[in-house]
Amino acid sequence: MTQLAILGGEPLRRKPFTPWPQYRQSDIDRLVQTVESRHWGGYPLPTALAKGFCEDFAALQGAKYALPVANGTVAITVALQALGLGFGDEVIVPAYTWDGTATAALAMGAVPVFADVDPDTYCLDVESVRRAITPRTKAIVPVHLAMRFTEMDALCALAKQHGLKIVEDCAHAHGGAYRGKGAGSMGDIGTFSMQESKLMTAGEGGMVTTNSLACYEALQTVINCGRASLTDEYGQRLLGLNYRMTDLQIALLIGQMEALPELRARRVAGAELLTSLLAQIPCVRVLPPQDAITQPTLYTYVFQYRPEPGKPAPSRDLFVAALEKEGIPCDGRFYEAVYKSDLFYATPQNCAQLKLGRETEMDYAQCHCPVSECAAYDESVWLFQFELIGGEEDVRDVARAVEKVAANLATLAAQDPSLAGVKAMGRAQRARFERKKNY
Ligand SMILES: Cc1ncc(COP(=O)(O)O)c(C=O)c1O
Repeated sequence: MTQLAILGGEPLRRKPFTPWPQYRQSDIDRLVQTVESRHWGGYPLPTALAKGFCEDFAALQGAKYALPVANGTVAITVALQALGLGFGDEVIVPAYTWDGTATAALAMGAVPVFADVDPDTYCLDVESVRRAITPRTKAIVPVHLAMRFTEMDALCALAKQHGLKIVEDCAHAHGGAYRGKGAGSMGDIGTFSMQESKLMTAGEGGMVTTNSLACYEALQTVINCGRASLTDEYGQRLLGLNYRMTDLQIALLIGQMEALPELRARRVAGAELLTSLLAQIPCVRVLPPQDAITQPTLYTYVFQYRPEPGKPAPSRDLFVAALEKEGIPCDGRFYEAVYKSDLFYATPQNCAQLKLGRETEMDYAQCHCPVSECAAYDESVWLFQFELIGGEEDVRDVARAVEKVAANLATLAAQDPSLAGVKAMGRAQRARFERKKNY
């Protein structure tokens, strides 16, 4: 049996994967033109350069309107503000997501309430949402996570029944569609992140989408310092800050959108091959297909580590550490159960809305979402999309490495679990130890 790299053996792969982000000469040319135009800012909103991009982005997502914002976290905050949420209103969010989905609600005075996710999609479980609804609930923020979609038909029906707003967090779903409808076009507002790891990126940045002119105007006002929108049909005046994106970012995003279809096709082909290979490996469970997805996106590829019960097996964190030492970038604690994350410092002492006007203080230490916790700490293995776009050999290497670690579970189980090192740390602590990564 080949010795694992984590135990001193030869790594299965030394070659780096395709670099990310991708760019072409036309991106450099467009950036130079934008610099030379001396129009670098994001005002007026949208700028002449941004206007065409917004129309194309809205069309890509099947929405009527789109606007650029500073980042994906802010996109959620402004969406909730534009929908009229205020201090103390409750917003149901998945427990298994990036912390920003929840902290964006905290930032505008709302109270995030965690619901669990579905074990087959890692997206919001609609029944768990139903149980989390209280008289204070005003909105739900589903996240279309990694490579799957929230079951939007059932969620929209539930929201309608209770008069709740929906903000779709589409940070992972650029260009994706569910039952023929684009991500960000099914709820009241869709939000996107253009941070560096995302499928379309300007280093940082975000977008909001909507089908409602009233929402569009409200969003524009909140993003643009409270100014009247260009249409101003509703005369809405909301408190706004400067959440605008620059034209330098728009210049990059135009090329990113052009490149999206080809990269998506490569990701989808890579993911199909990977699924067929991983499905043969005993300690791996691939996520079941989700027929409702009519246009896959694949921000990341996620599978589940499920060693055979009763047989010696290392923790998921050690499994992931061993896989990474084989030359395969991957993660286990990519996300935590947010209420347990060491980045989620939300207490009644620093967030007054968790206490004021409530019969009982919100105490996140009492939260328990078992599927999210299992995903975060025991089961999920995250691979990155740049491992899928380089072609068949890259994908086969990923599968071979998983196979190699899977064949050595008993040996690995007998080792010191601290070998998992930074892979088992919380993120606040881990950031100090992590090497600069290309994702
Ligand atoms: C699911 C999800 N929501 C929101 C965000 C926040 O986006 P940003 O980093 O652009 O603020 C991210 C970004 O990582 C994300 O993955």
